[in-house]
Amino acid sequence: GKGEYDHFMHKEIHEQPTALAQAIEGRIDHGSGRIALEDFEPGTFEGIESVQLVACGTSYHAALYGSLALNAAGIRATALLANEYSVSAPPVDDDTLVIAVSQSGETADTLNALRQARASGARTLTLTNVVGSTAAREADDALFIRAGPEIGVAATKTFSSQAVMLLLLAQRLADDVRGEPHADLDSLLPELAAMPDRIDAILEASTADRVARRYADSESYFFIGRGLGFPVALEGALKFKEITYEHAEGFASGELKHGPLALVTPETPVFAIFTGEEDEKTLKNAEEAQTRGAPVVAVCPEDHRAVAVADDHLRIPETDADLAGLLANVQLQLLSYHAADLLDRPIDKPRNLAKSVTVE
Ligand code: M6R
Repeated sequence: GKGEYDHFMHKEIHEQPTALAQAIEGRIDHGSGRIALEDFEPGTFEGIESVQLVACGTSYHAALYGSLALNAAGIRATALLANEYSVSAPPVDDDTLVIAVSQSGETADTLNALRQARASGARTLTLTNVVGSTAAREADDALFIRAGPEIGVAATKTFSSQAVMLLLLAQRLADDVRGEPHADLDSLLPELAAMPDRIDAILEASTADRVARRYADSESYFFIGRGLGFPVALEGALKFKEITYEHAEGFASGELKHGPLALVTPETPVFAIFTGEEDEKTLKNAEEAQTRGAPVVAVCPEDHRAVAVADDHLRIPETDADLAGLLANVQLQLLSYHAADLLDRPIDKPRNLAKSVTVE
């Protein structure tokens, strides 16, 4: 049941510290300081030359996050919309690892892409929450995010767990393929272990309800980020439109000036995500919107220079650039939740949507 919560979505947002602790549990070898993924002996991924991640919706945003982490670790990776795969798949061979990212493991579009990749000779892996799901059974290998059941149609805790698992997988792949994990592992591993506490801190002190109320009558909601903040901007907008029925869009910060800026007015709040990757550029992009009258809400740590510039602030604890976007995402989940609650939407079952989309 929902316990003390009015909605499963709110409950599942609050389950993220536990979900992430479960995802990481036993998967970091503290002796060697390396990633140990149960079924995958060291060397499992030797010979892999490139990775394609296929997914839909929120899982696609996690896949995009993962592709950036893989590229940063020196592995060629592309995130692809599973529903576009049949018409636009890049070439694959037996040195290609195709990773299906799917909470349910039953999404028809993702299964189709997985089957096509297998038939083309790629090696396949499913990252999912559901043991025994079709995608888990059909891929060569499966890796489980262990987030626990997610009932709300809006994916929340599973996004965080997928992204963290892809960060771990990126290090394992780099270890196997390049003979060494990504150089920053010494700082990343303790930061990963601290994620549950950091998310707890956000859940205890979030002002997302107040911010949601302040901007409740807006025309449109924009989310911007760069680097790992970009998939989070897309995810922030998807969650917002899915449960509030209000128009929302996510952009790469640098894209605003290439068109979307024409839409910006005092009625279009801009939520700017700062992850520590070229933040000065993102701040400049946000200020360009602010000059045109848009209120700017900075999602960043307390002592960040964006706080003084922005009209409002959603605070996240300091962490690695690899993880800051996931903390920002928790604030954006709460923002969408409270905005939808104010509008009295059926949060756990938005109109026209299903938890698991089993049609093409
Ligand atoms: O089960 P999956 O992860 O394959 O589902 C993919 C999408 O249908 C899903 O993430 C959808 O976008 C969510 N409702 C978004 O909150």
